[in-house]
Amino acid sequence: MSDMKVAAAREALQEVRSGMRLGLGTGSTATEFVKLLGEALRSGALKDIRCTSTSEQTETLARSLEIPMFALAEVAPLDLAIDGADEIDARLRLIKGRGGALLREKIVEQQAKRFIVIADESKIVARLGLGTLPIEVTPFARLVLEQRFSTMGLRPELRLRDGKPRVTDEGNLILDVHIPETRDIADVVAEIRQLAGVVETGFFPNEATEAIIAGAAGLKRMKR
Ligand code: A5P
Repeated sequence: MSDMKVAAAREALQEVRSGMRLGLGTGSTATEFVKLLGEALRSGALKDIRCTSTSEQTETLARSLEIPMFALAEVAPLDLAIDGADEIDARLRLIKGRGGALLREKIVEQQAKRFIVIADESKIVARLGLGTLPIEVTPFARLVLEQRFSTMGLRPELRLRDGKPRVTDEGNLILDVHIPETRDIADVVAEIRQLAGVVETGFFPNEATEAIIAGAAGLKRMKR
């Protein structure tokens, strides 16, 4: 699986040109891309790249590789964003955020002219919502939203890390919900987004413009 992640990341690097402004994603696949980008800058194969990050974790990695990092507003609009995903459907709609970075990911990716998803083929699903959908919520609203999501039949689970609530880079919490098989994810998300205290969801219906999927049989490209 990790070979596939590297293969997808390597293919995405082919889309990068010197002088571009890039958004760097979060997660194990995006990490492979950041490492390859660092190598390309070090070798001089790419020059004058300016980047912004979707998480503190990626920011730290990129800086350690001497990739030039900037605040989002200093480099937006971005030429290209590259990031992984947890689930991808045939319409290039995504579930993201199992790494906890969904809010910054969506902010950064909406600032990009192109957003290429890189993933291995295990991420392709017939129906989004096979796994959980992360919902970022304010700490103040967490308990009441947990109750509301339970009433809606979404079986919320508070995201934990090392036995404690996982606090996001924006200081919020994550409730992972289950989308009932009988319901359409877009309808459930529309309902969830009405509730104050919901900051963002991990449903990315429109952001990705392309995907590079690595599988046992090679690379496959998807376009919107
Ligand atoms: C981070 O919050 C996520 O959206 C990741 O992009 C997603 O979880 C994919 O991660 P992996 O590349 O590690 O599978």
